[in-house]
Order: sequence, then structure tokens, then C-alpha cells
Amino acid sequence: MSQLGHRGIRSYVLRQGRMTNGQRRAMDELLVPHGIDDLATMKGAFQVDQPLTLEIGFGMGDSLLEMASALPERNFVGVEVHAPGVGHLLSGIEKADMDNLKVIHGDVTTVLCNAPARTFSEVLIFFPDPWHKKKHHKRRLINSDFVAELLPLMVDQALLHVATDWEPYAETIFETIAGFPEFSRCEPPWRPETKYECRGVRLGHRVTDLCYRRVGFDDGVAD
Ligand SMILES: C[S@@+](CC[C@H](N)C(=O)[O-])C[C@H]1O[C@@H](n2cnc3c(N)ncnc32)[C@H](O)[C@@H]1O
Repeated sequence: MSQLGHRGIRSYVLRQGRMTNGQRRAMDELLVPHGIDDLATMKGAFQVDQPLTLEIGFGMGDSLLEMASALPERNFVGVEVHAPGVGHLLSGIEKADMDNLKVIHGDVTTVLCNAPARTFSEVLIFFPDPWHKKKHHKRRLINSDFVAELLPLMVDQALLHVATDWEPYAETIFETIAGFPEFSRCEPPWRPETKYECRGVRLGHRVTDLCYRRVGFDDGVAD
């Protein structure tokens, strides 16, 4: 797995020593059939060539599994640094016998460096770590540099869907994306409730969904 984002700042904390035997077995045995090493060599990983959704930071992956089961007409790739979550999702894919969902174990800021232009028709970032303290804001995943990295990887009209239960982060994300005329605000589509979201709702947090379409291609490359 790529250990450190190319920015040199981690947007996550790796919690060690909490792998179950099942998650460890899944990491050992299922990364080959259901994982992808590198987005650059991903073509052919899926049985059917269809629109591709990227989920960044899927946590334990139950909501990603639910989404991929509900939408067989799409392919999904999930990127996560947390090994127990990757193992948990791999087991779920095996049990459900799915072929439209693949997993990458790594830091998305490194993983995306190899992604070909115009790869994704949806990019989902559900409940990115909020990094509440001001001194930690530099660790937040979503900032202008990250949005600028995502932009060329998205096809025309691609959806960017971000959800958070931390209102100050929602405001910052809104202001950040407002700086990109290539993103036009749109209504949120259906998405499953996530594990982190349930925790936030229990704590009385208000959930904000921010959705955008990638518009106004002018780079001369046909989709
Ligand atoms: C707050 S959790 C939310 C998990 C899940 N989306 C949910 O809503 O239940 C954020 C997740 O993002 C992952 N993450 C943070 N930075 C990441 C990065 N640079 N690359 C990949 N995953 C990352 C963390 O490991 C964590 O699992």
C-alpha cells in the first residue's frame, strides 16, 4: 500500500492492531481477485465496461457494497487506507459474488497520481475526516489542491458528491468548490446511509450533502 500521500501530509491516522482473522485472511487471499494495484492499469479489471464511480475513504465499506449491489449498471472502485476496512469490504464482495466493485488499499492522494484523464463519472467522498481542531485543518482531504487533482479525472457531466456531518467543514468545502467554475451545483441523488453518518446523527449532527456536475470542458479532448 502507498504509505504517504504525495503532499507529505496525512489526511488520516492509521489505527494498528485491530484486524480480525477474517479481515486478515481477506487481505491475504482476496486482494488479487477483487483489488486493483494501480488505476493506470485498471482497464480490463471489470467484466463489463460501464460508467465508473470512485468512492474515497469508504471506511468499513458496507455502504459502498450496498450501492454497488443496488446499481449493477455501474462499476465502482473504492480507495481506503484503513486495512481492516479493506479486509471487511473484500469479504463482503466475495460473499455477494460481485464483479462490479474493486478495491484499492492506499492513500488516495498517491493513488490518483496514476489515474488516466477522464476516468470517473462519479466521485463520492462520504464523511471525510473532519479534523476539528484549527491546527489540524491542513490535514483535511478536501482543499483546492485536491479538487484541482480530481477535476481532469472526471468525465464531462461527472458527479462530485461530498457529504459531511461537520458544518464548519461543509462551509469550507462549499467555498473551496465555489472557486471552480467547472463545477455546477446540483441536487443530491440517492446514497446509502453510512456508518460514520449514523454516529454523527446519533450525536445530533446535521448532515450536509454537496453535489456538483463537472461542466464546461474545453481541453479539446473528446469524451
Ligand atoms: C470519517 S471516516 C468515514 C468512512 C465512511 N465513508 C463512512 O461514512 O462511514 C473517513 C475515512 O476516510 C479514510 N481516509 C482518510 N484519508 C484518506 C486518504 N488519503 N486515502 C484513502 N482513505 C482515506 C479514513 O481511513 C477513514 O476510513
